[in-house]
Amino acid sequence: MQLTFMPRELLEYSLFPQFYDHSCPKAKEIVKSIVAQAVAKETRMAASLVRLHFHDCFVKGCDASVLLDNSSSIVSEKGSNPNRNSLRGFEVVDQIKTALEAACPGTVSCADILALAARDSTVLVGGPSWDVPLGRRDSLGASIQGSNNDIPAPNNTLPTIITKFKRQGLDVVDVVALSGGHTIGMSRCTSFRQRLYNQTGNGMADSTLDVSFVSQLRQGCPRSGGDNNLFPLDFVTSTKFDNFYYKNILAGKGLLSSDEVLLTKSAKTAALVKAYAADVNLFFQHFAQSMVKMGNISPLTGSQGEIRKNCRRLNNNH
Ligand code: HEM
Repeated sequence: MQLTFMPRELLEYSLFPQFYDHSCPKAKEIVKSIVAQAVAKETRMAASLVRLHFHDCFVKGCDASVLLDNSSSIVSEKGSNPNRNSLRGFEVVDQIKTALEAACPGTVSCADILALAARDSTVLVGGPSWDVPLGRRDSLGASIQGSNNDIPAPNNTLPTIITKFKRQGLDVVDVVALSGGHTIGMSRCTSFRQRLYNQTGNGMADSTLDVSFVSQLRQGCPRSGGDNNLFPLDFVTSTKFDNFYYKNILAGKGLLSSDEVLLTKSAKTAALVKAYAADVNLFFQHFAQSMVKMGNISPLTGSQGEIRKNCRRLNNNH
């Protein structure tokens, strides 16, 4: 085929790991070293950076829309229900962007920073590694509606969660493998309180929860107040990327309802929970594959979007 006669807008660009090898050969190293510093300072930052990439990709694709602050033309996704008082890591992304702009101005996108930081974070806390396809560009807008509607909520039913993943081109294996991101990091009391006091409207705790785990959780997550009190998503090894997340679910000690339903609401997801609990290598392999798949959701490429100079603002919006 003679590509010379192909109109530019019909050419398909895809992401590839060597994208910056000539334009910014140190890009990957720079990201890695700043992520390593940030995680050394606070281990939880690894979890926060993994989640940031997820919340970016599920809204208009992996285009760094999640990083834009409010401005005259932008209603920031940072104010959405899943993100408000919850999403973090923005200062680390700023630090990475500043270092990359010093090394190779106008070259490395904020969306690619998020994808690399998620991989580096995973590796730093003991998880699998993968090659990160690169070449994403940054959005010219944000979508708070998308953020509210497209990111699964912890009290969504399993069919709703599966539907929200399907909309992104992700399947049931991706749902279960990527939920394993909850092997690190923290949740606020408000994200799971309903399970402790009134799961089905009958004033009782979620019957799938281990009873001693319920009383333990109630101590830090009272019926009212303490909304922002923090609890590990994996109460056994919350700073280590391993498969305890799945083992906990099998023991009735998964923290979020969305974690627990993977075991009790579908035979297919239950089989995967059991497989990952029994075989950490299988989990790691699937997690890495699914992260690449998630990172490929609707990227802007070629001449679409822009390479932001500051991840919080559009270039023309000084
Ligand atoms: C399956 C649907 C999912 C639901 C319903 C869900 C929900 C949540 C909730 C409610 C929190 C706690 C937020 C808070 O209370 O402040 C959380 C934290 C987290 N989520 Fe998810 N999540 C899902 C999928 C994912 C995926 C796909 C990933 C990444 C691959 C991920 C990674 C994380 C991480 C690492 C944290 C901890 C963040 C931190 O400590 O800063 N989650 N998630």
